[in-house]
Amino acid sequence: MRRATAYAHTNIALVKYWGKRAVALNLPATGSLSLTLDRFGTETTVAPHDDDDDRFVLDGEEVTGKERARVSSFLDMVRALAGSRARCAVTSRNDVPTAAGLASSASAFAALATAACAAFDVDVDARARSILARRGSGSAARSVHGGFVILHKGARDDGEDCFAEPVAVAPSLDLRLVVVRCATGRKKTGSTDGMTLTERTSPYFSSWVATHDADLQAATRALADGDLASLGRTMERSTLKMHASALAADPGLWYFMPVTVAVMNDVRAMHDEGVPAYFTMDAGPHVKILCKSTDADRVAARVAAIAGVLGVEIAGPGPAARVLA
Ligand code: DP6
Repeated sequence: MRRATAYAHTNIALVKYWGKRAVALNLPATGSLSLTLDRFGTETTVAPHDDDDDRFVLDGEEVTGKERARVSSFLDMVRALAGSRARCAVTSRNDVPTAAGLASSASAFAALATAACAAFDVDVDARARSILARRGSGSAARSVHGGFVILHKGARDDGEDCFAEPVAVAPSLDLRLVVVRCATGRKKTGSTDGMTLTERTSPYFSSWVATHDADLQAATRALADGDLASLGRTMERSTLKMHASALAADPGLWYFMPVTVAVMNDVRAMHDEGVPAYFTMDAGPHVKILCKSTDADRVAARVAAIAGVLGVEIAGPGPAARVLA
């Protein structure tokens, strides 16, 4: 094997993934539709390591326990493809607060899949790499590609039809995602645990899954048609249904902070004033607002003034995961 470095940007789901149809291969219970951003991401280097165990350093700190085991079992899949037993030193740097609900596992496993395939000289196309990245984290399958991306739920038990690919977007849609940071620090319940709890205990989980396909289809159509209002309404519906299913879990689970709700209320006020802006949120307190590029500055300035908002960044569509060296 050789030393290889890759970079992947994070992505934000407009139509959410929440729940699994099979845990062993990490197969999602729903498809999803996302935007890969042009900022926030992970740079990962995979290098040969002369030891019995893999080593994992994240943002300058040695990682052990469950998180290193997750990286090691991911590397086992690449080693199996390469027919190698070589141990690795993995060094990652996140340009996004780790585990704060800004989807760091998406960029992390997309970067790891891309770097590890290059390091072990495993010849896989983007579709196969998205399937591989999905095994690490469902959302990571989408960060293999740039721009707007669909992750197909698939129906096969072996997961070979559960891959991500770019989707058609009307050229008239010039969109931005305004990322509103609403808290610092690590979230208490990560997405994997949150969705497992929801699946196991929420009476609304089955409704979430049953009504999901229609949202995915509506959003995909709206993107192709350049219909921001329909895309935005579908996006809000998907996020609210996902969070409603989590709220009804036992014990109930919510990621909202007071400032999260204040920002969402302000986005609704923007609708009423005729500004086409729409919110989504993930397994964390931050809000992401989809709007036209021409409205992004004023949307950002407006939410930055809300008490408790810690920072606002404007992101656009970003590129696919790539090997840097
Ligand atoms: C709320 O991809 O982090 O961000 O597959 O268990 O690693 P695992 O889950 P993950 O879940 C993302 C959930 C979400 C919605 C989304 O990105 O679609």
